Amino acid sequence: MKVSIIGAGNVGATAALRIIDMGLADVVLVDICEGIPQGKALDILESAPLIGTDKKITGTNDFSEIKDSDIVVITAGFPRKPGMDREDLINKNVCIINSVCGEIKKSAPTSIIIVVTNPLDIMSYAALKATGFSKEKVIGMAGVLDSARFRTFIASESGASVKDIVAMTLGAHGDSMVPVLEETKINGKKIVDVLGKKKVEELVQRTRKGGGEFLPLLNTTAWVAPGFSIAEMVEAIVTDSKKVLPCSVLLEGEYGYNDIYLGVPVKLGKEGVEEIIKIDLGEETKKALDNSAEITRKNIDIIR
Ligand code: LAC
Repeated sequence: MKVSIIGAGNVGATAALRIIDMGLADVVLVDICEGIPQGKALDILESAPLIGTDKKITGTNDFSEIKDSDIVVITAGFPRKPGMDREDLINKNVCIINSVCGEIKKSAPTSIIIVVTNPLDIMSYAALKATGFSKEKVIGMAGVLDSARFRTFIASESGASVKDIVAMTLGAHGDSMVPVLEETKINGKKIVDVLGKKKVEELVQRTRKGGGEFLPLLNTTAWVAPGFSIAEMVEAIVTDSKKVLPCSVLLEGEYGYNDIYLGVPVKLGKEGVEEIIKIDLGEETKKALDNSAEITRKNIDIIR
């Protein structure tokens, strides 16, 4: 298996490290900055004996080296600076997506694409259009990360193990994201019954703003949890595990939405999106998802 990662910034390099560490695939790290992908790849390669893996990683400025990739991850793009919303990046990053997708079409036309560039749902839609790939093969990474953040906050608040917390966020990767509270469980019990409504609302708000929490701390956004979330999706695809993960995908009638990318539960396997899973949503959750879909539609309209 071969995974190429476009963008050797913090998120791309962390995803590469995690993929090698998990022994999932050989990795090609691509970036336009000379030296950076080569240097970061070499550092990861030299850790392979310590990990105990023979998987290989190389860094390059030459897009043609993504040839025959099974998966191409796109992390390239401008990150947010303090004071910016993800949506402020639309016009700048759509140009990058279009140019990267031209290279993917040329060199890796049968690959599955995982989009990470923000604003995520809009850039995923742009990648689908720019490549002309089937919708099963262009998938946005957001829900895995947002759900991990939500589980982290629930674990800290409740004292339960992260392993005993079940949670999933749907909708856009932005302030309108929708944690599905009726499905959120702590040690098998409904979150509202354990923590109460007010506390739950605080955790939901923190999750919605989870990416932004890093801006005043780091002057940019996070990379470890995003990188690990990419690897979680890569694992499901390369091992053909059929694991259900929340991902941003093209909806054509599912959940009542058409021609937008939005986070919903999907079954991931070697074909990419193998099924969009329909779960029953409570009235309040559906209303919140409608709102998130509407906001996403308006943002996608900017690039249509
Ligand atoms: C975040 C960025 C990756 O949420 O959107 O950390």
